[in-house]
Amino acid sequence: MKLPSELVQPLNEQLNRELYAQYLYLTMASYFLEQDYRGFGAFFLKQSREEGAHAMRLFHYLMERSIPFHPLPIEIPPKNYDSPLACFKAAHEYEQKVTLSYYNLLKRARDIGEYDLEEFLYWYIREQREEEALMHTWMEKLNKVKDDIAAILFLDKEAGEAAEKEE
Ligand SMILES: [Fe+2]
Ligand SMILES: [Fe+2]
Repeated sequence: MKLPSELVQPLNEQLNRELYAQYLYLTMASYFLEQDYRGFGAFFLKQSREEGAHAMRLFHYLMERSIPFHPLPIEIPPKNYDSPLACFKAAHEYEQKVTLSYYNLLKRARDIGEYDLEEFLYWYIREQREEEALMHTWMEKLNKVKDDIAAILFLDKEAGEAAEKEE
């Protein structure tokens, strides 16, 4: 079944959002690593790799279904944040934005009866739930410790160990 042409661009834009997420999290990793927060740095490096894998999954779907790939510009992510908490908040906000874009795409696929695409997108819907929850957990932890630097360093260590464990 040929994918209806009106879904070609939205799918390419979705791939671009995943590539932007990869770049955004790489930038966030640099924000932490340059301040010697090794744990949070490792956390965002891991997230960045995962976003790259999300993009590849979409890329292979395009190729499998003979859908043309359109290279699109990748936005420049912000580099500086007021605090570790502000950085995690920005990551959580971006995940919510991506979730919404998957909902919109899924709705369009369903409305035109593109059941194969619909089924493919559910994997991303589940992934978004996990990632929103993960960012939210770290946001809440950082929110609780406020400016207590010893507690922030403790969380940094915890984030590093968690990132290592899940590899
Ligand atoms: Fe993603
Ligand atoms: Fe994500």
